[in-house]
Amino acid sequence: MPALRVAELFAGVGGFRLGLEQAGGYQVVYSNQWEPGRRKQHASAIYVQRFGADHHDNRDIASVPVEEVPDHDVLVGGFPCQDYSVASTLRNARGLVGRKGVLWWQIHRLLRDHPHPPAHLVLENVDRLLSSPAGQRGRDLAVMLSSLWGLGYAVEWRVINAADYGMPQRRRRMFLVGHRIERMSGMTAELLQDHGVLAGAFPFAVKRQGPSIQLEADLRKLSDRFNRDGRRSPFGNAGVMVNGLVLTRDVSPVHTGPATTLGDILQPEKDVPAAFRIPRGELKRWRYLKGAKREARKVSRNGFAYHYSEGAMAFPDPLDKPGRTVVTGEGGKAPSRFKHVVSVDGKRFRRLTPIELERLNMFPDDHTAGSPDTWRAFFMGNALVVGIVERIGRALTVFHDHGER
Ligand SMILES: C[S@@+](CC[C@H](N)C(=O)[O-])C[C@H]1O[C@@H](n2cnc3c(N)ncnc32)[C@H](O)[C@@H]1O
Repeated sequence: MPALRVAELFAGVGGFRLGLEQAGGYQVVYSNQWEPGRRKQHASAIYVQRFGADHHDNRDIASVPVEEVPDHDVLVGGFPCQDYSVASTLRNARGLVGRKGVLWWQIHRLLRDHPHPPAHLVLENVDRLLSSPAGQRGRDLAVMLSSLWGLGYAVEWRVINAADYGMPQRRRRMFLVGHRIERMSGMTAELLQDHGVLAGAFPFAVKRQGPSIQLEADLRKLSDRFNRDGRRSPFGNAGVMVNGLVLTRDVSPVHTGPATTLGDILQPEKDVPAAFRIPRGELKRWRYLKGAKREARKVSRNGFAYHYSEGAMAFPDPLDKPGRTVVTGEGGKAPSRFKHVVSVDGKRFRRLTPIELERLNMFPDDHTAGSPDTWRAFFMGNALVVGIVERIGRALTVFHDHGER
């Protein structure tokens, strides 16, 4: 079979590309990465450094004419999730409620207007998408699913925690895989649930069967009416949509192989630069930030008094478990509740190096070398666990070949 041609949107430093290349059978024919509001385009520069400048596009995706995106079989991308509300962009023609959020409609535009829309899509986002927005839980996903139906796609989705499948990071993300309906060769929603790409890639057991939902095709009406009175999202952590019919359920992971722990990915202490060590005098502050709190606080602006409480985080991070989620603020010396802190001897404490953060995402060592350390951490906070994409990539080539026959 010829390689499947890939367009990688919101490419960051290329996590999707790495995963698909490891799976084999893919060729990236277009990649797009642009960091809004930055003169220096660090992520795009790293991408070019690693993969070459051919077919790479460092422009705002919203400004790219669809004819400039070459024909491709698979469109992939982890689209930015900050602040989004997909449906509000429908009501508000300018769609600027949370500027990054409207990027879903850029994916939509490419699928809608491309002369040869791709056979498949693989998208990644945070699992909050299942239940957003707060006042109308699940509406945003419903709008996405219905709009993909309108564009001629069937969809599978699943929330996957990489650590549940033996990978080194507890990173829970939602993956959405789409197939053009004419390639489904009669596969129903029931069959797709058990024999789709995600079902093949990530073994599971069914925990709870959810409702089946027939979506409205009219996006405005759907957006206005969906789950108006519901407190909970009707969507489980797994589901499919075929011809507007959604089947959803909660599944739990089944993994019999080994686990990878934070301890497994650490560099030898002799290779860790001194800058990552936490000076003794700062440990108190780190302990305080990581610790449980119940305290009275005041808003300095207006003196408003309130009670603040939060639970304790493990300090240092346990070496016999997978790492926690890498966040974009993981880099830099300043003490923080969310940064990993490790200690191999129980006496000296340190932060994680850029290489260790790359390993938590299963990137090659020094993939992001050449950028300042805080940027390298930022890239890894934005990126994904490459092993997840590799598994999806393998299952997708099988699914695709089956559709070809
Ligand atoms: C969640 S990250 C995806 C990271 C990627 N999967 C990786 O492995 O590095 C989203 C990316 O979209 C980029 N982005 C945001 N707005 C964009 C736009 N308007 N056009 C193109 N890229 C954009 C961000 O700079 C960021 O790198």
